[in-house]
Amino acid sequence: MMPVLVSGSASPMLSSELSRTLGWELVKPEVRKFPDGEIYLRITSSLEGEEVVVIESLSPPQNEHLTELLFLLDLCRDLGARKLTALVPYLAYARQDKRFKDGEALSVKTIARLLELADKVVVVEAHSKESLSYFKKVEEVKCFSLLGNYLAKLGLRDPLFLSPDEGSMERVREAAKAAGADFDCLQKERLSGTRVRIERKRVDASGRDVVILDDIISTGGTVVESCKLLKGARRIWACCVHGLFVGNALERMKSAGVSRILSTDTIESRYSKISVAPALIKHL
Ligand code: R5P
Repeated sequence: MMPVLVSGSASPMLSSELSRTLGWELVKPEVRKFPDGEIYLRITSSLEGEEVVVIESLSPPQNEHLTELLFLLDLCRDLGARKLTALVPYLAYARQDKRFKDGEALSVKTIARLLELADKVVVVEAHSKESLSYFKKVEEVKCFSLLGNYLAKLGLRDPLFLSPDEGSMERVREAAKAAGADFDCLQKERLSGTRVRIERKRVDASGRDVVILDDIISTGGTVVESCKLLKGARRIWACCVHGLFVGNALERMKSAGVSRILSTDTIESRYSKISVAPALIKHL
């Protein structure tokens, strides 16, 4: 028997793509709000004895999507799901994986505990190994080679793929390999939630198409600072897995010289040009 895919409200495009490719039944729960803001959920399809995959990205509004995911998992169990997987394309709070100051919440650990409602959790490109260490049963889906394959088809001239920090270095190297592009890595220091400093270094960007790749683009600060080292580049593009693009991130990046912005569908937006579905399928 094929599993049933239950789609939370954060991932409509990706869930349709997965259900179409895999031929699985797609269940769309009724999701409403009570007048006081509480969430109402209802599933009328039978899940008794079924293997169920609940897909819900923890994209903004993260706390709403998290609540919906937890309610859905518990509801599917109540309705008799035999085996339950939480498919979380974007794992929010993954950057809160250490106590940077005394007394801080390890928020991703709390999420890991809550997601024990499922038998297994599948996430796409978690921010760090530490963030995954709190989960009992988790699989991480890697997708930087998908990014590389996609970029390779876009006619880049003398391409250079750039990792803005050492944290993303190996992943960006993988994308560069898939695209047959050169690779370089910068060194970044985070000064605050919105400010970063990138170490000055010589980057061979002159006349080239440079793609800055990262796991997450949030405020765009990292991309903006990286652009300052790319004088003479023919074109600068920014490409990420999880495109949060908060506040005026898109305008900031464009003003810094970025002419094209691309992301995957782990967080769905008009920039989601690359689907992670082919990478996810191997883990379901
Ligand atoms: C952090 O280390 C991540 O890999 C990203 O570089 C970071 O989240 C990007 O954030 P922002 O766009 O706000 O600079």
